[in-house]
Amino acid sequence: GEDLGFSKGLAGVVADATSVSQVQGEDGRLIYRGISIEELAEKSTYEECVYFSLYGKMPTKNQLTKFNTELRHNRVLPKAVEAVIAAAPRSAHPMAVLQAAVAAMGFDEQPVNLKNEDANIHNAIKIISQLATAVAHISRDRRGLSHIPPNTEMSHAENFLYMLHGKVPNKEEARIFDVALILHLDHDFNASTFSARVVASTEAKLSLSISAAIGALSGPLHGGANEKVLEMADGIGAPEHAKEWVLNAIATKAKVMGFGHRVYRTMDPRAKVLRGMLEKLVATKSDKSTYETLRIVHDTMIEELGKTSKDYIWPNVDFWSGSLYRLMDIDSIDFTPIFAVSRVAGWSSHIIEMWRDNRIYRPSAKYVGPTDAKYQDIKNRK
Ligand code: CMC
Repeated sequence: GEDLGFSKGLAGVVADATSVSQVQGEDGRLIYRGISIEELAEKSTYEECVYFSLYGKMPTKNQLTKFNTELRHNRVLPKAVEAVIAAAPRSAHPMAVLQAAVAAMGFDEQPVNLKNEDANIHNAIKIISQLATAVAHISRDRRGLSHIPPNTEMSHAENFLYMLHGKVPNKEEARIFDVALILHLDHDFNASTFSARVVASTEAKLSLSISAAIGALSGPLHGGANEKVLEMADGIGAPEHAKEWVLNAIATKAKVMGFGHRVYRTMDPRAKVLRGMLEKLVATKSDKSTYETLRIVHDTMIEELGKTSKDYIWPNVDFWSGSLYRLMDIDSIDFTPIFAVSRVAGWSSHIIEMWRDNRIYRPSAKYVGPTDAKYQDIKNRK
């Protein structure tokens, strides 16, 4: 394209260094501190990955036990956060309520001391723990149900599903959800992580930086896409309409949600792992219609775009996650908050990393407005 003298959307701009994660776009690979997400999805747990992400090394057995205890004992929300959640109308989008709830976690947060990394990590653990409770409570308020207090005996995934549904999940579903949390944990300089870093680079509080990231995640071009994919599937209505719907979308240049990525030029590896789990789960369910509709959308998109110069457009993480969550009886409006339940660990890890060597983010703009305009008195304006 034309040379604007800057990179629109910061595409390709290297804004900072990180060792939290790397997206290898050409190869469709994602690593957390060097380990592929496929391997972590198979062998690890969300808690272990959070520790790895925050501390930069895998925990020993004792370290993990201690870490789990800390996560589990921080699950209860402060009264002020409960009050902010309670003040939201049922019609509010849960991402708006969540952003406010996490900002309210800052009411009693001490000013940041960059040198006290230990305190900052413990603060992050508290927010990671409380954010899951907030998402479950927000969902239950919207559905007119009473809150389920967190349980200290369960894993992060199990306890979240328990607080959401009011019943203990079966082992298989809890593990599928745990893997979904692992897959969403981090993704280098995506828009919400970049937002978190920008805000935290001013030495703002962790909760306020994470609250900003939640705002960024809510948009349909980012985390909001998972909810939109299910809206699309519901709009298509039935698998037999899917192919025609996609052909029409391509012909009219409409965006298909859950497809496309700034960095990946092939299949998003997270989409592959999610699809594998989804296929296993869907085999045990009687209603397969959402999955079937999306499978046809998926295959038709890849086949048709593959014939064009847009053959770099592939499914991303948001394409399959919603179908998986729907099979676990989760409302589509709660999909993006669930993305935040996981990604909060990535946001926190980036901030902790950045604060070791902090410099405020303050880029430059190419000014294209007038340079010698004159003030005109209001009575002379037309
Ligand atoms: N469906 C149809 N066409 C698309 C799509 C799509 N989903 N995504 C990109 N294109 C087209 C786009 O219209 C453009 O065409 P043209 O050159 O004719 O104008 C071309 O591909 C290049 O796209 P772009 O706008 O330069 O891509 P970008 O890097 O600026 O944006 C994106 C990336 C993810 C915002 C975009 O692909 C998109 O809007 N996808 C749909 C929303 C979505 O699924 N978001 C989730 C992203 S991944 C996980 C997450 O962050 O939650």
